[in-house]
Amino acid sequence: MQKNTSPCYYGEYLQLDKFLDSQHPVSGQYQAHEAHDEMLFIIVHQAYELWFKQILHELNSVLSAFHQPNLDANNYGKIIQRLNRINEIQKLLNQQIGILETMTPLDFLDFRDYLVPASGFQSIQFKEIEILLGLKMEYRINFDKKSFYNRLNDQDREHLMNLEGQPSLFDRLQEWLERMPFLDQANFSFVEAYKTAVSEMLQHDLEIIEGVEYLSEKDREFQKKDLEKTKQTFEAVFDNETFDHLTKDGQFRMSQKALMGAIFINLYRDEPAFQQPYLLLEKLIDIDEEFTQWRYRHTVMVHRMLGTKIGTGGSSGHDYLRQTTQNNRFFKDLFNLSTFLIPRSSLPALPESLKKAMGLRSE
Ligand code: HEM
Repeated sequence: MQKNTSPCYYGEYLQLDKFLDSQHPVSGQYQAHEAHDEMLFIIVHQAYELWFKQILHELNSVLSAFHQPNLDANNYGKIIQRLNRINEIQKLLNQQIGILETMTPLDFLDFRDYLVPASGFQSIQFKEIEILLGLKMEYRINFDKKSFYNRLNDQDREHLMNLEGQPSLFDRLQEWLERMPFLDQANFSFVEAYKTAVSEMLQHDLEIIEGVEYLSEKDREFQKKDLEKTKQTFEAVFDNETFDHLTKDGQFRMSQKALMGAIFINLYRDEPAFQQPYLLLEKLIDIDEEFTQWRYRHTVMVHRMLGTKIGTGGSSGHDYLRQTTQNNRFFKDLFNLSTFLIPRSSLPALPESLKKAMGLRSE
């Protein structure tokens, strides 16, 4: 490593002159006294945007690591570490809402009207993060599909539209899971072994329901119907037609093949070769969960600040945001994986030859 040739000075290195001269409340231009809380409002938003920049820095590096045709096992550690960093930043971002809530709704009214029609809709970095994680236009709630694009200038709109056309982390994840080796080997078909294990497990459950003496006939029938529903959900991963049907219904977004890869990783996560892929899936779930929690906290804060007033960006305000909390998810399929897990005791044993092969690098 080379030595620095000119001495480094804290303020210059961080460009604090530019940075600390970027907070300019507008309320002073319109009224005798500047609204005291406008400074907090600006700084909290700027802090968000700075952290969004760091999240994008990490996300783009994770995307390019995923882009390798054969995602090398050596990259897993780096990807997990960066996803974890994103997740830690998110936790901080969620806490920042509490700082903004020290501003009361009446204090907010001292300057809110001067901000029209600016809105969080126009946070390009936030939208970039959403799109890069996998929230493309077709997955947004109806109001959101076009509305926020209509509120952007031409340059920002074009930039985000370009991004919509690029593979997202969801797409890359799906490709990676579809490439999962070991699902079908000459001497072991995971799908067949899993199907048998599931059918034995469900048969066992049925025997329990039929054998329990204290159940009334009505309760027994009720439980059998529930079991039938579970059976149908399991069938979707084996039967293409049922899977397509449930996909149209919005139950799955991921392909059947990718889902099977994710189930395999989850079931055999104690095998050394799958410990890191499993952690990677867990981190994606953490990120989705933390995002959802931010949406929810932001929604509740907006309710507190605005009541039922509409937003400066023209949405219905907290009602619109509440809907995005439920709908705008990235990795729902990973959350739903738990449906397809079977107890460790029912897990088909992997042949020794396969275990040996798994000790090698997975391509
Ligand atoms: C007084 C505080 C805040 C209020 C009253 C508020 C209000 C709103 C409202 C009503 C919307 C819906 C769009 C609209 O009609 O304008 C919205 C969206 C948004 N806000 Fe806030 N907000 C506040 C603070 C923040 C902060 C601190 C951030 C951090 C960056 C933020 C980021 C966003 C983002 C990214 C959206 C778009 C969300 C989406 O489309 O899913 N907001 N906000």
